Amino acid sequence: MADNEAIRAFEHAGWQRAASSYEASFATATRQFIPELLDAADVRSGRSVLDVACGPGFVAAGAAERGAMVRGLDFSSAMLEVARARHPGIMFDQGDAEALSYPDNHFDAVVSNFGIHHVPQPRLALSQTHRVLRSGGSVAFSIWAAPADNIAWKLVFDAIRRCGDMSASRAPAPGGALGGMSDCVAALESAGFVGIESHKLTGLWRQTDGQALLGALRSGTARMAALIEAQAPEAISAIVAHIDREAAEFRNADGLAIPIAALITHGRKA
Ligand SMILES: C[S@@+](CC[C@H](N)C(=O)[O-])C[C@H]1O[C@@H](n2cnc3c(N)ncnc32)[C@H](O)[C@@H]1O
Repeated sequence: MADNEAIRAFEHAGWQRAASSYEASFATATRQFIPELLDAADVRSGRSVLDVACGPGFVAAGAAERGAMVRGLDFSSAMLEVARARHPGIMFDQGDAEALSYPDNHFDAVVSNFGIHHVPQPRLALSQTHRVLRSGGSVAFSIWAAPADNIAWKLVFDAIRRCGDMSASRAPAPGGALGGMSDCVAALESAGFVGIESHKLTGLWRQTDGQALLGALRSGTARMAALIEAQAPEAISAIVAHIDREAAEFRNADGLAIPIAALITHGRKA
């Protein structure tokens, strides 16, 4: 059985550490999907919106640009420090996605960009989301697609499998089993949502080379960082060389343009 508090503590430590380098590293991947996420939750002028697991607040800022009244929530004080400095006009609250402190029936929309799969119990977080939404309100969340579609991840996993050790990480296994579209749909259904749809979106993540890709994941994530850092130092150069070799087809004059893919799942409160 998953140890929820061990997962929460691992994630918290990882995001606290990643916060200062997140914008220049991992956010160059996560930010690509913000417009579609906001569309999926019908975020527009005059709507009250909560951005759960907001990190540095890029989704909240996107919602504010649309004229929405927005709050961001994250459990990492370091992420919130960046968010508040970057977006002084937006309210950011420290709290846990599984225990929202907002009243029932409060928001018109709740969004979460690559946040829900990090909480120990995503279904609990989604039922909290359902509680704080008004009747007719919308939810939308994104997760990464499986490595078969998400080539940046595939390159790193394949290289570690071949040249390193996939079992080296001491990270606790993730809690929520949100692996694919059907898991995401089922999670929203079990939280009480209706009108649920899920779709895949693709993007390109630009990195100079394999070393830069590994560096972005190492400095801007929690779970992937733990896997990379757990590799023996002498294996890293072979891992980088493997990524560079396998990524040859994605190279152009500017470096690598690596396919990435996200699943966006949305629904509404009846
Ligand atoms: C991959 S980042 C996503 C940040 C941002 N939404 C974006 O689009 O870039 C994951 C975020 O989830 C937050 N997080 C993870 N578990 C959480 C929890 N249980 N409650 C609140 N925030 C959480 C982390 O602190 C981190 O900021």
